[in-house]
Amino acid sequence: PLPPPFRVPLPLPRVLPPVAPGRYEITQRVAEIEILPGIRTPMWTYGGTFPGPTIESRRGRPITVTHRNELPVPTVVHLHGGRTPADSDGYPTDLVLPAGWTAGHHAMPDPRAVRTHLTRSYTFPLDQRPALLWYHDHRMDFTAPALWRGLAGLHIVRDDAEEALGLPSGARELPLLITDRAFAADGSLDYPSVDGTLRERPGVRESFLGGVLGDVLLVNGAPWPVHEVDAARYRLRILNASNARHYELEAVADDGRRLPLVQIGADQGLLAAPVTQATLPIGPAERYDVVVDFADVPVGGRVRLLNRLGSRRTAEVMAFRVARRARDDSRVPAVLSTDLPTWDRPVRVRDFSFRAGQLDHGRGWVIDGRPFDPARTDVTVALGDVEVWRLVADVHHPVHLHLAGFRVLSRGGRPPLPHDAGLKDTVSLRPGEAAEIITRFDGYRGRYLFHCHNAEHEDRGMMANLEIT
Ligand code: C2O
Ligand code: CU
Repeated sequence: PLPPPFRVPLPLPRVLPPVAPGRYEITQRVAEIEILPGIRTPMWTYGGTFPGPTIESRRGRPITVTHRNELPVPTVVHLHGGRTPADSDGYPTDLVLPAGWTAGHHAMPDPRAVRTHLTRSYTFPLDQRPALLWYHDHRMDFTAPALWRGLAGLHIVRDDAEEALGLPSGARELPLLITDRAFAADGSLDYPSVDGTLRERPGVRESFLGGVLGDVLLVNGAPWPVHEVDAARYRLRILNASNARHYELEAVADDGRRLPLVQIGADQGLLAAPVTQATLPIGPAERYDVVVDFADVPVGGRVRLLNRLGSRRTAEVMAFRVARRARDDSRVPAVLSTDLPTWDRPVRVRDFSFRAGQLDHGRGWVIDGRPFDPARTDVTVALGDVEVWRLVADVHHPVHLHLAGFRVLSRGGRPPLPHDAGLKDTVSLRPGEAAEIITRFDGYRGRYLFHCHNAEHEDRGMMANLEIT
């Protein structure tokens, strides 16, 4: 039986303390987590919790995160949205091996490409706009089941300029990591892997190639939680960390009134100016920074965060219960940021198609007709070049670019939608739709990726290599 909605308190992931200035340590291990009340669910975790601990960093202050792998399989950590040198970007074959595995293990994608290490230190310069990033597993062919089992956590980059704006903060800034999961009768996570050990054969059963959905919606790891709030403005930092589920979020009060969602930020940080949205569509890996004002809601009243794309239980996400009137000194300034990059004069326009296709062993997903091959360079870009990419999709594909944030120039031949505003790192392509994005490839040279962030599509071919030279 599923727990009733809006009873479990919203958990707030703990903030990871550094072991020394700028140095963090995380052990990846199996843990039993109480997600459904009274039931223990074995999960794969960063540091024993789901979501993993939140890392809070400051713009331009490099940090090192050392991961120790005590899980039964290799892992790879990627900081999604990070401007990270290639050797710390978590390339899918750059594995952190568990004890007992060697580079010669036959499930290794390329025995020469992997290094043997039980621990691995990733260095993040964090020379980038303040934003909500997230870290997650990125092992080749096995990202989707590893994410599903719990390998995801938040990373918030902050800076003085953003803090000086007076946005809601402290207890009135809430990270909301939204996922869906399915559970088996014994309380374990239900995922249709062809090989549940995740040690040898990758992949999901054929009927799940489109993506795996769950019937239980979790926010910060709790099913349909509730959070007590003051009658004041709150800053909601929303991440869709689901494998494949899309949501369209709206905030609805008891009297049926829809509260405005004042969008102040996108994947890669603050917008230039706030945009008031009635609803917000969010695809896998996308983030929104939103201010919601509970001031007009009567004490004792409730505001539900709903999903217009769901039905019955998947149409409900979480609730806020207004507990008290309170003073509110926060503000949402008319100008949020002035450093948003705009680019023109692209030196190149490229086209990429994201479609269903044929792989060596069965059906899958391809970019420009080709499934992912770590040994092939798909695109070579010169460091510093501005390019326009035209992306076209057959079905929904949330397309993500590593390293480079981009702007959406057009969608379906028209101007971008209101929620495309700001600097993005993932653009959610709709069925049959083409979108144009523009970016400048700067930061670092090396091998990066772009891929669909429907995790089942990604595992089943829909990824490509981007070499920056
Ligand atoms: Cu969120 Cu290539 O990753
Ligand atoms: Cu896809």
